[in-house]
Amino acid sequence: MSDLFDIIKAEITADGPISVARYMDLALAHPEHGYYKKQDPLGEDGDFTTAPEISQMFGEMVGLWAAVVWQAMGQPDPLNVVEVGPGRGTLMADALRAAYAMDDFDDAVRLWMVETSPALRAKQKATLAQTLMMPAWRDRFEEVGSGPLVVIGNEFFDALPVHQYERCDDGWRERLVGLNDDGGKDGDKFEYCLSEQLIDSCVIPQDLRNSTPPGGIFEHQPVSAEIMRQIAKRVVEHGGAALFFDYGHGKHGIGETLQAVKGHAFSDVLANPGNADLTTHVDFEQLMIAAREAGAEVLGPVPQGAFLERLGMRQRADTLMMNASQEQMAEIDAAYARLTDADQMGTLFKVIAVVPPGFDVPPWAE
Ligand SMILES: C[S@@+](CC[C@H](N)C(=O)[O-])C[C@H]1O[C@@H](n2cnc3c(N)ncnc32)[C@H](O)[C@@H]1O
Repeated sequence: MSDLFDIIKAEITADGPISVARYMDLALAHPEHGYYKKQDPLGEDGDFTTAPEISQMFGEMVGLWAAVVWQAMGQPDPLNVVEVGPGRGTLMADALRAAYAMDDFDDAVRLWMVETSPALRAKQKATLAQTLMMPAWRDRFEEVGSGPLVVIGNEFFDALPVHQYERCDDGWRERLVGLNDDGGKDGDKFEYCLSEQLIDSCVIPQDLRNSTPPGGIFEHQPVSAEIMRQIAKRVVEHGGAALFFDYGHGKHGIGETLQAVKGHAFSDVLANPGNADLTTHVDFEQLMIAAREAGAEVLGPVPQGAFLERLGMRQRADTLMMNASQEQMAEIDAAYARLTDADQMGTLFKVIAVVPPGFDVPPWAE
């Protein structure tokens, strides 16, 4: 068993079962043993691969989007460019390279990376050295300096904790993580149980509250919603736009999506805290409600494939192919398909933009 297993076990032994959100928070973000705190999990040799790691075209499309948005904002100088959950820094390096094509953009940019992982901050520093632009790192979005801003996030919200609520015969209870009963001794495994008390069902969307059959699970994302509220408030007050890519559903619904991934394969959520990635599908409706509560308008969600195609990724792929070998051409084609095809990342992954009311951004502004 890992050190983190013992830490979580001690907390449960002392205080009783913990929420799924608390379990996720400890597994992913424990200061010493949390999954993201101690390692770079990305890439073929890691546990999972993300869009910017598949192809430079992804970051380049985001960079062109940011430059066009900056132009539509009236080219404010300085412009805060903020990435939340920036991984290895690959997306931002590709984005800046593309956005520098716009005159004066590089002079205007103040770069911020909102990242809690020391291991990934070190990677970002190395990756961004090629752009000659050193960011300021912050743990939380609220610590980013004031002024007009463009915010980018790819697979950020899926890494944040969720609460799970289960419909029972007499109402809704919270799903908790406790110790298994192994014949009277201390538990040696974690297992799910339910809260003794019914929860206040106000957190369940009204259309699901009474219609959900027993056993149905609703995943509540208050941590993500609060971060979204902060970002949306800033965009409305200071001007700018935020763009988020993630996998998930456009409308909230019933179903458990929490999963553990280790070495590009699914693993047991409760078996290996701190050593496997834990993610959930993002409920875009909860994020959109939070952004609107802060006074922002939300564009989308649109499928990632359609978004990238409307921004011109096909033309970019064709340009890259002009100087490519046969082998490179095949790689570009494969990456293009992976990012855009409906049976790959093109449909499950979705995109939203958060803007001040009335401020249209590409590809919605035509
Ligand atoms: C799934 S990875 C995505 C990385 C990157 N955006 C990409 O597409 O390759 C999640 C990222 O969010 C960061 N992260 C997780 N929880 C965070 C938090 N509460 N605040 C800021 N960053 C966080 C992780 O360290 C990591 O950089």
